Amino acid sequence: MRKEQFVCPYEVYDALEELSQQDAELMHRAHEAARNAYAPYSKFNVGAAVRLANGKVVTGNNIENAAYPSGLCAERVAMFAAMAQYPGVAFESLAVTAYSASKTIDEPVAPCGACRQVMVEAEQLSKQPLRVLCQGETGPVFVFDGIESLMPFIFLDKFLG
Ligand code: THU
Repeated sequence: MRKEQFVCPYEVYDALEELSQQDAELMHRAHEAARNAYAPYSKFNVGAAVRLANGKVVTGNNIENAAYPSGLCAERVAMFAAMAQYPGVAFESLAVTAYSASKTIDEPVAPCGACRQVMVEAEQLSKQPLRVLCQGETGPVFVFDGIESLMPFIFLDKFLG
């Protein structure tokens, strides 16, 4: 037996102003998208914005449903919309933010596992690392340069044979 460890490197930016203009703009679009959330049950508004290799930015927000599992996270709304509108175009970066009605979120909000699995597929299709930027309503921005930093031991299509 031997013990091993997985290292998940990420960059920390103390404020939006420290990001490149392109990254700051993408995060700004995610913040704007959070305003469109339909989240009457959780009152937790999430916004996401995907930057594509053709320069387009596609946004998404969480959309809930009285039958709870029928809703969808902001990240998947954005990614699926991007894949529907621009099929075959590589993803470069994805920004995520969230606002809660019950408290100010001042730390980065990490995407859920199901969204990370969709990011894996998008990254594979894109043939380049997907950069993931996470922020709360305020506070620092974490940047993960590639989905493996967010999702170790990923399930890949190669396992399917
Ligand atoms: N949510 C997202 O939109 N993205 C995530 O990564 C985690 C959770 C949404 C789903 C639901 O509408 C609300 O946040 C509370 O879970």
